[in-house]
Amino acid sequence: MSRKIAIFDTTLRDGEQSPGASMNTQEKLVVTRQLLRLGVDVIEAGFPISSPGDFQSVQRIAAEVGDRAVTCALSRAVDKDIDECGRALADCPRPRIHTGIGVSPQHLKYKFRGMSLEEAIDRGVHAVKRARKYTDDVEFYAEDAGRAPFEDLARMIQAAVKAGATVVNIPDTTGYEMPWVFGERIKYLREHVDGIEDVTISVHCHNDLGMATALAMEGVRNGATQIECTINGLGERAGNTAMEEVVMAIKMHGEELDAHTDINPSEFLQASRLVSSITGFPVPPNKAIVGSNAFSHSSGIHQDGVIKGRDTYEIIDPTLVGAKGSSIVLSARSGHAALRKRLEDLGYEVGDKEHFDKIYRDFLDLADRKKEVMDEDLHSLMGERARNEDALYTLKATQISCGQPLTPTATVTIADPEGHEHIACEYGTGPIDALYKAIDKIVKADCDLSEYSVQSVTRGIDALGEVTVRIMSADGEVYSGRGSECDITVSSAKAYLNALNRMIRKEH
Ligand code: KIV
Ligand code: ZN
Repeated sequence: MSRKIAIFDTTLRDGEQSPGASMNTQEKLVVTRQLLRLGVDVIEAGFPISSPGDFQSVQRIAAEVGDRAVTCALSRAVDKDIDECGRALADCPRPRIHTGIGVSPQHLKYKFRGMSLEEAIDRGVHAVKRARKYTDDVEFYAEDAGRAPFEDLARMIQAAVKAGATVVNIPDTTGYEMPWVFGERIKYLREHVDGIEDVTISVHCHNDLGMATALAMEGVRNGATQIECTINGLGERAGNTAMEEVVMAIKMHGEELDAHTDINPSEFLQASRLVSSITGFPVPPNKAIVGSNAFSHSSGIHQDGVIKGRDTYEIIDPTLVGAKGSSIVLSARSGHAALRKRLEDLGYEVGDKEHFDKIYRDFLDLADRKKEVMDEDLHSLMGERARNEDALYTLKATQISCGQPLTPTATVTIADPEGHEHIACEYGTGPIDALYKAIDKIVKADCDLSEYSVQSVTRGIDALGEVTVRIMSADGEVYSGRGSECDITVSSAKAYLNALNRMIRKEH
């Protein structure tokens, strides 16, 4: 039997740290259910000390996961952080606390203001011992290990193992290291840390040089048996190792790596679309494994080759990762039971009859305009509902006139948090400029639009158009907003209002 490589998903923690990718608890629960369908071994649910919302999410995710996977919570090597993790995971059947401290010269000098390596090691040891009071499953991370001298890292890891860490995480926090050097680093630890054979070596890599997958694979080749990763490679800056990439790489090269995972790859496409839809981070068409072009062949020579023999140009059977699989299509003729079943299969809680009836009405409204309702439409519809549930300002009506040689003009009606309706009219360089100026007149928030994009949710000219915006507040914080409608000017208004609502609430 080959080595089992545990898959540690951090979409809900490191992934969510990408500016503008924040998810609310309900959204995190939907992603959690999908991660369970994939069969991940560990779910990093959040950083409980960071906010009461995160604390609550960790509790809710732990309850949802139960004993189907390990639920992990992150902390710094700080007593109150660790105690919050302990509290958040108190009722969890398989809790893990993930604690640690910086090890590189850069982190010790700047982040820890000149702390010595010895002091950092002592803090790490104390943190591991404190975490062990709450659980026997303690993972220690040596932050920025990728830029630390091998000997310094080995000293810190040795101390963590002696203190009782059961997993040691070697992060290339800045995505700096060359894959083969990272591999040598893991080998060095195996050769220089006593007792390392009794703990799990984990690799946590970032994609700043586009090598997060290669780094993780070198880690595995040299003895790591856990990979930390995210769906679509979501994460800080250029992101983390993408789960779909490492899992498929191990699947294709399992024999030479002497490794396998227990992941069910046929859930990858679904997972990718779900995370993209919830976070508003589009998947590039050329993204490995889950991009829309990952299995398309356009040049005549390639098409001819694939017709003669699929593996001339295709190394993975698309159905293996859930592409081109059976797609269930609902329509206005679909009844309550069909919609309920599909939504539950996709991971949504549909609530009691009264709540579900409202969802069904929204579904019928969409199905009247768009004949075939696909899973992607359902994600969009549920996302739209979740965004509107607790919105402060809500869009009541829009009217736009534009074209050439007209002056683009927009009129909007918006209800304020007290339910009073306000109407504003503006003109601009284009319909969106006019629309956003009209909204600004009512909401009066100080911000800059830093990103605007529109994507069709499915194929076809009747598709829903999903707009994602990012705005920057006067204090430099980034907030994202989404809106989805058949009319993209309405999606645009909804997306902007959603971002403004989050900014007013300071919901990242
Ligand atoms: O990148 C990193 O070093 C991290 C740690 C908190 C594990 O995310
Ligand atoms: Zn990270």
